Amino acid sequence: AAVAAGRGDLDGLRVVVSAGGTREPIDPVRYIGNRSSGRQGVAVALAAAERGAEVVLVAAHVDDGVLAAASALPGVRVVRAGTAAELGAAAEAEAEAADVVVMAAAVADYRVAEVSPRKRSKDAAPGGGITLDLIENDDILAGLVRARRDGQTVVGFAAETPGEGETLLDRGRRKAARKGTDLLAVNEVGWARGFETADNAVTIIDAAGDVLAARRGSKQEVAHALWDAVLEVRGKR
Ligand code: CTP
Ligand code: CA
Repeated sequence: AAVAAGRGDLDGLRVVVSAGGTREPIDPVRYIGNRSSGRQGVAVALAAAERGAEVVLVAAHVDDGVLAAASALPGVRVVRAGTAAELGAAAEAEAEAADVVVMAAAVADYRVAEVSPRKRSKDAAPGGGITLDLIENDDILAGLVRARRDGQTVVGFAAETPGEGETLLDRGRRKAARKGTDLLAVNEVGWARGFETADNAVTIIDAAGDVLAARRGSKQEVAHALWDAVLEVRGKR
């Protein structure tokens, strides 16, 4: 059941929530980014604060206004991070004192191998194309799971575009098993789904892949369902 805001059932819980999309620089004026607005992650942080938690919001690139609302809230400390590497360092450091870590950020899977110190110019290859070498970023969530202490709960989000012959849940279960998360919130994304919208739909699965909740609603409602699930799995331990 949904929990009323302000109920205080997360009183004293120390939580870290990452939100927003990382940007990987190509040169001083360009980057590789993604469509995350940060709304779902910020909603997760705000819902925790409303319910009494002490919140650190590790914010990558979050839409203006969305972040302003979070910064204004007592009980929320904001730490900024631009790239996946910065977000990883911040999340790792803040996780040391946390009871729950939620990775809602859209972390770039790759970064540019050689960032140009000067703005790249077409002069280098007039009329031709260019190739950017990309290298894989560390998996921050998997690292947090490896470093997880007794009593700590590690939560991930998975944005999926299921293909032929597989369900959203199949993909989510595979990802949960691969990452070792205590909880994974799986949501379907697409060109017109999941991003830049007020609403979201997630299925929350535990470490065994069992469905704890399925919720379609505002990002705030989804956030509260996630904290209900966190309380449920923490109660089991
Ligand atoms: N994540 C992370 N570090 C990365 C990539 C992703 O911590 N380098 C986290 C995200 O914040 C999210 C979860 O892992 O909580 C799942 O992200 P997702 O992109 O769905 O999974 P990937 O492992 O990157 O797999 P793929 O993109 O290939 O589906
Ligand atoms: Ca990814």
